[in-house]
Amino acid sequence: GKGAAMVTAVAYRLATQHAERQRILDALRLSREQLMEVKIRMGNEMNRGLAKESHDQAAVKMLPTYVRSTPDGTERGDFLALDLGGTNFRVLLVRVRSGKKRSVEMHNKIYTIPQEAIQGTGEELFDHIVHCIADFLEYMGMKGASLPLGFTFSFPCHQNRLDQGILLKWTKGFKATGCEGEDVVTLLKDAIHRREEFDLDVVAVVNDTVGTMMTCGYEDPLCEVGLIVGTGTNACYMEEMQNVELVDGDEGRMCVNMEWGAFGDHGELDDFCTDFDRAVDDRSTNPGKQRLNGGNHISVSSFSLFLAHRYEKMISGMYLGEIVRNVLLEFTAKGLLFRGKLSERLKTRGIFETKFLSQIESDRLALRQVRSILQHLGLTSSTCDDSILVKEVCSVVARRAAQLCGAGLAAVVDKIRQNRNLDKLKITVGVDGTLYKLHPHFSSIMHETVRDLSPLCEVTFLQSEDGSGKGAALITAVACRIRDAGQH
Ligand code: GLC
Repeated sequence: GKGAAMVTAVAYRLATQHAERQRILDALRLSREQLMEVKIRMGNEMNRGLAKESHDQAAVKMLPTYVRSTPDGTERGDFLALDLGGTNFRVLLVRVRSGKKRSVEMHNKIYTIPQEAIQGTGEELFDHIVHCIADFLEYMGMKGASLPLGFTFSFPCHQNRLDQGILLKWTKGFKATGCEGEDVVTLLKDAIHRREEFDLDVVAVVNDTVGTMMTCGYEDPLCEVGLIVGTGTNACYMEEMQNVELVDGDEGRMCVNMEWGAFGDHGELDDFCTDFDRAVDDRSTNPGKQRLNGGNHISVSSFSLFLAHRYEKMISGMYLGEIVRNVLLEFTAKGLLFRGKLSERLKTRGIFETKFLSQIESDRLALRQVRSILQHLGLTSSTCDDSILVKEVCSVVARRAAQLCGAGLAAVVDKIRQNRNLDKLKITVGVDGTLYKLHPHFSSIMHETVRDLSPLCEVTFLQSEDGSGKGAALITAVACRIRDAGQH
């Protein structure tokens, strides 16, 4: 009768809604063939970045780092390290002991860098950094000491030597003027001289991936790859000198900072990229500061929306929340979510921090807790279905990120295997970054993808603790050892 017809109509509507949702989400699902294609293209881009004739046109820059070996345990001494470019700015004192009591001891202090310094002038930024160093030396009671310093500076730098780093381009929301094209060691030294309080011996400029590889390499000599999946994403690995065409000499190996975040900038990812990804680039809105319900101010203006860095934007923490928000916007506009009501909150850039993605996907979390997270975000998700759908969106976006990252890494380990003419390669990847460490599923999906796409490589993943700062100190220690040996 009538009742049955109504039930059928409702069932039909639910089925079409479900199909419609899945159709939208399908754009964010990658097949094995597509992932294999990503691996192949990454491999090609690596070769283009390494070769002199194609380097200038290559999206993936494959920057030489002048780090030629992983630590061997004979490093020793006291070092200062700076760590700029991750979630926090830190100053560290690192004590490295060699011999039987071989160990690394660290003291560090975290400093916040105010928005004004990140987006002001380079002088302001570096003056602030030196101010923090002064505070740290004071705090450690070592004002007069002039220790060798390693500078972890996690941005793309052109290096002609270990103790130089010409900033090619800011990434991850940094904007300070007058820095691009300059040597960051000079910028740091100038700021130290302006302060006229102490001097420092800057020995090494180190990317965070390289620091992570070195730190893990101290524990495990098979570690010859460094990977970061945090605010940004990037990788480095030990390449044969004969392939590093930008540097003279064919002997041995050198660590190459890939700057793989820029992969896709010349169209390599266009066939996998969705409108949701492209919306992350949109510069047309600048929401400025937003007031949260608690009265706290969060600044979303740090959300720099540079157009490049496609791969990084599909993978790393700074952007995944934006992709999710854009998908939710589409669902809502189509009447498939939040009863079709577009709230002001949902229209606001940057509301979805990565930590929410990790929380929402946590297996221990009941759906009503998903609801309360959404409510906290000002999203009045009133139905249980809404929570299920939001969770599914988060899961699809994070899975794609982990798979893309795994496909890139598969290209790296396979290249190392081919370099060495091996049928089978055993290798360790040192990893750091908040997304990798805190997301409940990212790491396992990424591992699975690497194993699937590079079956001839036996890859072990080693999480680094405090990798980037410690690594900078280890690299500085190696450089000092070699320098001192030359002097005696
Ligand atoms: C960005 C930087 C890169 C860094 C990565 C992870 O991609 O350009 O240098 O390694 O973020 O912090």
